[in-house]
Amino acid sequence: MTSENYCFPRGFLWGASTAAYQIEGAWNEDGKGPSIWDTFVHQPGKILNGDTGDVACDHYRRYAGDIALMKQIGIRAYRFSLSWPRILPRGHGVINQKGLDFYDRLVDSLLELNIEPFVTLYHWDLPQVLQDQGGWGNRDLLPYFADYAAVAVRRLGDRVKFWTTFNEPWVVAAYGNRKGVMAPGFADPKLAAQVAHNLLVAHGMATQAIRAIQPDTQVGIVLSLRPHEATSDSAEDQAVVAQRSTTAWYLDALFKASYPEVSLRALGANAPEIEPGDFALISQRLDYLGVNYYTRTVTGANGNVARVPGSEYTEMGWEVCPEGFGRLLVWMHENYRLPTVYITESGAAFDDHVVDGHVHDTRRIKYHHDYLVELRRAMRLGVNVRGYFVWTLLDNFEWAVGTSKRFGLIHVDYETQERILKDSAYWYAKVISRNEVHR
Ligand code: FCB
Repeated sequence: MTSENYCFPRGFLWGASTAAYQIEGAWNEDGKGPSIWDTFVHQPGKILNGDTGDVACDHYRRYAGDIALMKQIGIRAYRFSLSWPRILPRGHGVINQKGLDFYDRLVDSLLELNIEPFVTLYHWDLPQVLQDQGGWGNRDLLPYFADYAAVAVRRLGDRVKFWTTFNEPWVVAAYGNRKGVMAPGFADPKLAAQVAHNLLVAHGMATQAIRAIQPDTQVGIVLSLRPHEATSDSAEDQAVVAQRSTTAWYLDALFKASYPEVSLRALGANAPEIEPGDFALISQRLDYLGVNYYTRTVTGANGNVARVPGSEYTEMGWEVCPEGFGRLLVWMHENYRLPTVYITESGAAFDDHVVDGHVHDTRRIKYHHDYLVELRRAMRLGVNVRGYFVWTLLDNFEWAVGTSKRFGLIHVDYETQERILKDSAYWYAKVISRNEVHR
């Protein structure tokens, strides 16, 4: 294949992603209420090395400088999330104007530099007051999410054209409520299954609320998707893989108005309660689907996750698997009637070092190169992908593993808040300006 083949279509949107809690800091300033992450990180032993997102990248104050760095790289679209408790400290009701003003300034600053804002309403930071009333497990609270969406769209919807309801509902359910390693920290399989369902219902309610205010806007959801594969072809191993496929769970709900039988059987008595009309809400038209792809899951003969001999692994312990990206996208395209797709996250944590003011992150460059080549191939096979967002713009607070893992195009010194563009940022700048992948 010549380099010609790695050219991307005109107008392809090159972006970078972040999330409010991971970068903003200012956790208790200007009237912001606490979120479940504020509570979680302040409990001893929850986060590696006792890190918190109290300050993180101090983006709440440094946003203008960060946007200037985006411009330097040439980023065309910036995906970020709003902190719900910064806007509605009590989850609903009284609006914290200072919180909304921050996002207003952020959006205007992006647009001044021709950077398209992609806004995520929920990237995991539920107002603590709502958690105190049962959180996502309490169905009565779901309309508050739609009310919050309406508040945000009324203020920003004249300028923001891309709205995402949820980032990775699977992680909220599985890591926050079944394994308990993320906020709110519950290990309750029945609750987790109900949360998984309730989030999708809330997605449907918010989608309606957004369209009622701004009918011409683009509304989507972002899913964390991966191929689930087995080391053997045996019927038993394939059955285990099918039962664990969270990919089919979300795609079936959104595009086929049902959950896979095999998943419901595996959940048994823990299966969620579903009310009449839920699937109509969940499966209403989406303007786009956001796909976050990092790795695949390989199940070994004993049913455990297997490491693949010879494969490269990142600092997160995730296999670098560009081929899985292509396989996933083509499989999705063949099995579902997909809307426009944006790759809303992809990236890798490596052990970066600052040497004489530079970060030579060649492994990250290779990662994005190889993933983009696979993406381009999948697009040629018919998958309608319109953009790629690198996870992430800045090194930031990586949830349970704190600041120990660095995914950014930009290195952050947490002592001084100094930013340094890594080699991958300069490489990405060239990709964007040529609209083509190169090494
Ligand atoms: C995704 C999350 C994002 C970040 C990356 C590494 O699951 O959406 O916030 O943690 O993983």
